[in-house]
Amino acid sequence: MAYEFIQVRTEGGKVGVITLNRPKQLNALNNELMDELGAAMKAFDADAAIGCMVLTGSEKAFAAGADIGAMASYTFADVYKGDYITRNWETIRTIRKPVIAAVSGFAPGGGCELAMMCDFIIAADNAKFGQPEIKLGIIPGAGGTQRLPRAVGKAKAMDLALTGRMMDATEAERAGLVSRIVPLDKLMDEALGAALMICDYSQLAVLAAKESINRAFESGLADGVMFERRLFHALFATADQKEGMDAFVNKRKAQFKHQ
Ligand code: HXC
Repeated sequence: MAYEFIQVRTEGGKVGVITLNRPKQLNALNNELMDELGAAMKAFDADAAIGCMVLTGSEKAFAAGADIGAMASYTFADVYKGDYITRNWETIRTIRKPVIAAVSGFAPGGGCELAMMCDFIIAADNAKFGQPEIKLGIIPGAGGTQRLPRAVGKAKAMDLALTGRMMDATEAERAGLVSRIVPLDKLMDEALGAALMICDYSQLAVLAAKESINRAFESGLADGVMFERRLFHALFATADQKEGMDAFVNKRKAQFKHQ
């Protein structure tokens, strides 16, 4: 499928790589781009050869937020009837395979929210995150007021959303928003390395790990631990569990078949 606002490729036949591609607007996220992103992610999710995805932008900007030019004239009726954000952004929540955000440059507003909708963020040392919507007379609308406090705590989330200031990669890593920082020129190597590693594990275990960790955000501890326990028990029904443990016992590398 041909896309206008994103580029799509695979790495090693196993990793789906999606690059946001509206360079003149610093990858500002309009509806058309988000439609394409959802379609591309769903296609990779349905492709049995793909085990993991990487979402990235340009060196200067992962994404400079939702498209302000497009939003400027929206009325309440437009966004409510058109189900703005829910209609296409929420597609990302339905993706079952892991999605790594490889973030360099600016990631304000919807850019930060998009990165947070991914499963983890690897940041280049020039990355900048924030929720500056307050400067536009609005608030974050793609989960920023919910995911940011879960990631960095209430104090920093309030600070960022109420002042609109940006935080650099070091602050973001210290606060728990990003899992690793790497030099800009190593960003894609690092993200692809992590993705290829994930692809080689049992896909059943990978899906279960993602589902179980996401459950931590939706439930109390007892329910979440029970959910984990049931998935943990279920994995003993897989051939991959037998393979992984036999490989360890016999000091060889496991060859998972995703069964
Ligand atoms: C539309 C944008 C844009 C955006 C940048 N551009 N951000 N267009 N929507 N979010 C455009 C600029 O208008 C400009 O177009 C071109 O991209 C380059 O941007 P500059 O500002 O000239 O670049 P620079 O000086 O390097 O500054 C980079 C920047 C700044 C700091 C990231 O562009 C900026 O502050 N952008 C807005 C960031 C923001 O507020 N994001 C949150 C949006 S609200 P021209 O035609 O002049 O060259 C949001 C709501 C989320 O995301 C709710 C649901 C998702």
